[in-house]
Amino acid sequence: MCGIVGYLGENNSIDVILEGLSRLEYRGYDSAGICIIDPQTAGLSSFRETGKLNNLKKVLAGKNLFSRIGIGHTRWATHGAVTADNAHPHSNELLAIVHNGIIENAGQLREELIAQGEKFYSQTDTETFLVLATRYYKQKMDLRWSVQQAFSHIRGNSAFVVMTAKGDEIVAIKRAAPLVCGQNNVNGDFFVSSDPYALVGFAEDIYFPEDEVICHIQKMTSGSMISFHDLEGKESSSFQKKKSELNADVVEKGEFEHFMLKEIFEQPRLIAQWLDFYVNGPGKEDVLKFQEYKSRTIHIVGCGTAWHAGLVIRDFVEHFNRIHTHVELASEFRYRDPLLKEEEIGLFISQSGETADTLAAEELCRENGLQTFSIVNTVGSTLYRNCVGNFLIRAGQEIGVASTKAFTLQVLTGYLCSRVLSKDFEGHNDLVRDEIKREVELLAERIDLFLKDSEGVKNIAQKIQKHKGFIFTGRRRYYPIALEGALKLKEIAYVHAEGFAAGELKHGPIALIDEDIVNIAIVSPELYEKTVSNVEEVKARNGVIVTIGPKNDAPLKEISDFYIPVDFEGLPNLGPLLVNVVNQVLAYYIALFKGTDIDKPRNLAKSVTVE
Ligand code: M6R
Repeated sequence: MCGIVGYLGENNSIDVILEGLSRLEYRGYDSAGICIIDPQTAGLSSFRETGKLNNLKKVLAGKNLFSRIGIGHTRWATHGAVTADNAHPHSNELLAIVHNGIIENAGQLREELIAQGEKFYSQTDTETFLVLATRYYKQKMDLRWSVQQAFSHIRGNSAFVVMTAKGDEIVAIKRAAPLVCGQNNVNGDFFVSSDPYALVGFAEDIYFPEDEVICHIQKMTSGSMISFHDLEGKESSSFQKKKSELNADVVEKGEFEHFMLKEIFEQPRLIAQWLDFYVNGPGKEDVLKFQEYKSRTIHIVGCGTAWHAGLVIRDFVEHFNRIHTHVELASEFRYRDPLLKEEEIGLFISQSGETADTLAAEELCRENGLQTFSIVNTVGSTLYRNCVGNFLIRAGQEIGVASTKAFTLQVLTGYLCSRVLSKDFEGHNDLVRDEIKREVELLAERIDLFLKDSEGVKNIAQKIQKHKGFIFTGRRRYYPIALEGALKLKEIAYVHAEGFAAGELKHGPIALIDEDIVNIAIVSPELYEKTVSNVEEVKARNGVIVTIGPKNDAPLKEISDFYIPVDFEGLPNLGPLLVNVVNQVLAYYIALFKGTDIDKPRNLAKSVTVE
């Protein structure tokens, strides 16, 4: 969840690292730090500040420092409070280290090392790695070997980047944590990062090392070079080298005030591109291969928004295919001793492809002999590499911590998979494809229309933003949309929000209703009367009613305090995605009026790479 950037080249590492870290700040922002070679002392020099990266930038601003090598970090605290001492890099006179992940046996290692006379200056698990690596480094002054030795002592999923006071090499290694290296082909600069996004504009070639492969960047007399080695020290070819697929505009907000809003507005275009790829274009064949797995029980697993996408997808799969489909939270699934059979399949949903619990759940399925597939955004991510098949959602980089466009494309991709598995697809391939195409095109059009005229939702947001709590309700495929609406709102506006199945309200949650509670009620054409009855029940208890319901519905408007009309016509399957965009915009504006940090909400990180 932490952001890592390292650099070795001819330019000032501070500029490169700060720019890279600012792009990664969405992954963690409790504190930030950088270590360079001090031009005066020629030794390691660290700067660490709590809070956002800006605090670090301010400290460095007046210093006029220049170093051709450096490592930097933005932290999402796991072990140890948010203090400057716990901020990375951790360093001594010989080595400096940044780390993303958790060293599970840090407590035990720390005790052993203290018993052997070592001193610790922070509460972090990371420092045990520094102490271990330094002990080995003192023996041979060989960085690669020292990191290799230290790594063999630790348990847990982590990525480490280490530099020495000599200032001529960087070593990086990881286990089930994101880490890439980059190379600029013009000036020969090398980079290391937890995300290729940090390297956009700096590196054209990206290296994706396998787990437990040591990446070694060295400055030689002829220029810098990179090499890869296994844990025995032998040269390794267990990495992939690819051209960076990201272009410069992904790092800009453009005309939008926040990345989240930019990403919401990208949806119509991305849906059209998705359609071109999967229904009209080359992706057709990828999805067809999935037919081979029809009639098998499916376990869909994800976290947060991805889990909500899974809930909608389950409805599609069961409805169109009549096969058992289970949806589970990865964090529960992996510890629940689930009943898994070889003939079943696992479908893992993740934007980042790096969520620790989702990765562990996939591994569990694989170990039990299931074929595993992903619906994933990030090419080359750990999930992508571990599954036998991947359905890329093609959402582009998602920067806002609150996931928006990824959800839409996850559900669409799952919808397509569910249709491809079904019997009607076999018999009427083109007919079904045309039907899917028409509905997806209509969805993109309706989202676009709504976004062009969302002023009404902004006004409602302003009027309800001060209320005490928000209850989102919906039925069937709209129930996960209610869950997702509530998650979005609590994430970015810091207000209490819950999603409920509308029919479930009177089994308990209705006790919450009073004039301070807003009910955002999704009234879909399907199950219309029953859902309206639930709205009436809330209204009778003085709840504030916001309905998202069929357009031109005068009676619904009449019983609502605020009414958001939606054109459901022609969207029998994908209507939930249109309503979800309404919820996204509503949450965005409520947060905007509250003045929260929308793209980087407190306590959250974009990619949850620890359990
Ligand atoms: O990268 P993933 O899709 O695996 O992430 C899963 C969740 O952490 C993520 O969806 C989270 O709930 C978002 N912040 C929701 O907006």
